[in-house]
Amino acid sequence: MDLIDKIATDVKKKKELSAISCEFIKKTIKSHLSSDSKLKKFFENHESKTLNRSSRYKEFIKRIRAELRKVYGVYAKENFEKREELLNKGDYDSILKSHLSTKERINIYPKLYKEIWKITGKPKSILDLACGMNPFSFKYMGLKKIKYLAVDISKEDAKLINKFFKKEGIDGQAKIMDLLEIKKRDLFENFPNFDVVFLFKFLDTSIIKSKKVGEQLIKNVPSKRVVVSFSKKTIGQKEMKKANREWVLKMCERLGYEVKTLNFQNEIFYVIKK
Ligand SMILES: C[S@@+](CC[C@H](N)C(=O)[O-])C[C@H]1O[C@@H](n2cnc3c(N)ncnc32)[C@H](O)[C@@H]1O
Repeated sequence: MDLIDKIATDVKKKKELSAISCEFIKKTIKSHLSSDSKLKKFFENHESKTLNRSSRYKEFIKRIRAELRKVYGVYAKENFEKREELLNKGDYDSILKSHLSTKERINIYPKLYKEIWKITGKPKSILDLACGMNPFSFKYMGLKKIKYLAVDISKEDAKLINKFFKKEGIDGQAKIMDLLEIKKRDLFENFPNFDVVFLFKFLDTSIIKSKKVGEQLIKNVPSKRVVVSFSKKTIGQKEMKKANREWVLKMCERLGYEVKTLNFQNEIFYVIKK
């Protein structure tokens, strides 16, 4: 087993992180090692069998896990482990409550989608980026015939969502996609066009270290309509002092995009027309 595979296998031993795609975990490891060539050499020269006992190795595994928790693990709420069971029972509200983002949104869904469709018109196709468990809110959308593509970084979540689409007869697909790749290439080059793109609560996550990534994603998504949202609470559930994301409004003005704001108690939505 090569070094990166070994580290990824050890990182994944924590159950709450085991659902993240291997490719994404390896990319995170590589990026950390590339900025620390001494540590990389130390790992490479160390006997593989005894590496796990080294304190530098243990500390590195902790560091990678901490980063992955920020990106993914932190959103897991009650019943996260039981989602398969909940899916079989058709208890989709409990699945929505098993993820922090959808849990915070559950009470506003019916109103939220009505308000969005008032602006965009009812879509026939949706692209849900960094979707989390949002596809399980489908029943609140009030849509019938729809093509739904959902992407995120977890293989397990994609499996669960695909099962849901199949069970409910929705023409949908969930797949793995690392949105940060947008920094290197046009991610959506071979995508069909979508009526609406959701980019809910992604642009604030700690990994998006610059607004440029947000702007690039909004510009590149294969749709005229993008709905971008931001939480008004911190991960620790404290109210944010400044919930408005002025940069979105400024960006829209600069690029000549129309934007309407939907301001809910826990979350602010910008409905953008490019
Ligand atoms: C705050 S949650 C929002 C989930 C969902 N959009 C919602 O609002 O209900 C952020 C999501 O981004 C996903 N994510 C993190 N990094 C990602 C990346 N590089 N590419 C795609 N998705 C990512 C996480 O797995 C998580 O589901």
